[in-house]
Amino acid sequence: MKTSKTSSSKRDLLSMQDLSSQDIDRIMSLATKLKKEHKAGRGRPLLRGKTLGMIFQKPSTRTRVSFEVGMYQMGGDAVYLSATDIQLARGETIEDTAKTLSGYLDCLMARVYDHTDVQKLATYARIPVINGLSDAFHPCQILADLLTIKEHKKKLKGLKLAWLGDGDNVCNDLLLGCAKTGISMTAACPKGYEPLEQVVRLARAEGQKTGAQVAVTEDPVVAAKDADVVVTDTFISIGKEGERATRESVFMPKYQVNSEIMKLARRDAIFMHCLPAKRGQEVTADVMDGPQSVVWDEAENRLHAQKAVLCILMKAV
Ligand code: CP
Ligand code: NVA
Repeated sequence: MKTSKTSSSKRDLLSMQDLSSQDIDRIMSLATKLKKEHKAGRGRPLLRGKTLGMIFQKPSTRTRVSFEVGMYQMGGDAVYLSATDIQLARGETIEDTAKTLSGYLDCLMARVYDHTDVQKLATYARIPVINGLSDAFHPCQILADLLTIKEHKKKLKGLKLAWLGDGDNVCNDLLLGCAKTGISMTAACPKGYEPLEQVVRLARAEGQKTGAQVAVTEDPVVAAKDADVVVTDTFISIGKEGERATRESVFMPKYQVNSEIMKLARRDAIFMHCLPAKRGQEVTADVMDGPQSVVWDEAENRLHAQKAVLCILMKAV
């Protein structure tokens, strides 16, 4: 995780670029342990007395509930801060907000539009800052995804993952997460909707170390062929609603994950989606609700993966 320049011992999680392969391994192991302990009724109050603040500029179901419940399960507290209800809405600066909140909280999670907002929070906060989704990255989702893949495939290194659709925030961080764990990823995206160029470059450099291949194509068939994991996301991310008509015409029907696409993948391939999903658009109902889909495990694993991140950042383990 990224070590802040303002405080030598503070670490933030703003994108998968902040995690080394070893950090990811550690998070996976701890998440698995915490999950097992929780399911056996042996959860430990590792974060007793600690409070997480959660700033939301955008709506959320999974991120909000999994962070909040994760804190409760470990004996801590969570404070929900709608960005429209705090003084940020009236022009108080991110810098002043970060400094103020650092006096009350032990950790801050923020879901923002502009990625530089969460970067600024991290720069000025004296406490660890976690990106709970920005327009550019969604690291917590990728940690849950890697945990889910590991549970179902019993390994990460050597697998082949196909991404179909928008080269969005989830796709950006998935490229980095896969490259760092040895998963070869091909992203099939329409022209103009590719993942960030800088991210593709970074992922390729990471892949050199782990043996993972990184490819971007316009052809979903190329991506899906022999894949172990097929992943998609909404075609219309939060904030892009104004582009709905254009996006629907660009993405539909070519980039939809349907049974024809799943037939190109390996017979034992799994289907993943960070949710929320729009059945009939980026994925058909038969795939989303079918036997290859692991989307509910994936959603649950947000809780377990984030509990591990919270413990590590707040130095509870
Ligand atoms: N996957 C995800 O981040 O879901 P929410 O938008 O519901 O938090
Ligand atoms: N790409 C989607 C992910 C939602 C969890 C969005 O940003 O809306």
